[in-house]
Amino acid sequence: DRGEFAHHMLKEIFEQPDSLENAMRGRLVEADASTHFGGLNLDPQKLRQAERIILTGCGTSYHAALVGEYLFEEFARIPVEVEYASEFRYRNPPIDRNTIVIAITQSGETADTLAALRESKRKGHTTLALCNVVGSTIAREADGGVYLHAGPEIGVASTKAFTSQVTVLAMLAIYFGRLRHLSALQGMQMIERMRQLPEIIRETLTCYDDVRRVAQRIHTARSVLYLGRNYLYPVALEGALKLKEISYIHAEGYPAAEMKHGPIALVDADTPSIFLIPRGGLFEKVMSNLEEVKARGGPVIAITNDGDESQLAHLRAKCDELILVPEVPEFLQPLICSIPLQLLAYEIAVLRGCDVDKPRNLAKSVTVE
Ligand code: M6R
Repeated sequence: DRGEFAHHMLKEIFEQPDSLENAMRGRLVEADASTHFGGLNLDPQKLRQAERIILTGCGTSYHAALVGEYLFEEFARIPVEVEYASEFRYRNPPIDRNTIVIAITQSGETADTLAALRESKRKGHTTLALCNVVGSTIAREADGGVYLHAGPEIGVASTKAFTSQVTVLAMLAIYFGRLRHLSALQGMQMIERMRQLPEIIRETLTCYDDVRRVAQRIHTARSVLYLGRNYLYPVALEGALKLKEISYIHAEGYPAAEMKHGPIALVDADTPSIFLIPRGGLFEKVMSNLEEVKARGGPVIAITNDGDESQLAHLRAKCDELILVPEVPEFLQPLICSIPLQLLAYEIAVLRGCDVDKPRNLAKSVTVE
């Protein structure tokens, strides 16, 4: 039931304050300054011995895995590799004994991800699954796992499952971190910030008005570039995938600084670039990437934080459009910044008359190779 919403996708985007609350319910434990999961089925000693983590999945779940790589490396200090499940299943990478393979999947039925999981098990690795659908094949076959509790996702374009995946990965990073180097103080601070997420997401959704204006401006484009750095590079990839899937506009995501190594050749008056440029350590760096695009006549849309007026004035002078979202610590930026991109893909698809919930050539779960 879509209720008041015109499409499942829009309803699911607006459900995110609740779906994130559900992902975190009972899992943030202040007393330990850590997180807790019922279904990992692994004793902490074994987890502490993990020397490497492989995150694998397809499509949007693969993008969540890329965010997970930044999270695990920063907070748990464990080397992480991210693999497309479809590639991983046929490769023969050297993997050490103390490697944990984590399969990420909304449906729990994706054929490539299931095959990657089975191959990892066959080789004797410990496997975990992050799934949304309870009792799905991948959830049943993994040694342990964490459910997303996002509720049914009907729209073919994954939205709330993505933010739940990232939320669970952040909680896992705290958990692994607290078994290793992360101090109680740091763990506590992260938990405090995560507790505020549902409220912050609610606030973020008010960017819909900004997004509508931007959609009006760029919905006739034939190609769109998405640029971000660090935690927001995977979000740029995800934003581009959303747009491709449901509006059939060609889009590419890149690390903002890679532009000068080739893609900037695509920039012209008809090719908008969407920059993820929150306040923080890399602001000035991304700003200079943005100026390079502007200088070549490309329309620029910036997604940034409200608050600091002088910084905003500086950005306004360089950009054609601004979308404002709340400021959060860097590790939570992927959650906040993916929301305007979901809404933008949705709005553009509607303006182009596309079938948002059932885009052409796609199925909700890909159970063939
Ligand atoms: O159910 P899964 O998470 O395993 O699905 C993986 C991909 O097929 C899926 O994320 C796909 O890319 C979505 N349509 C993206 O919106």
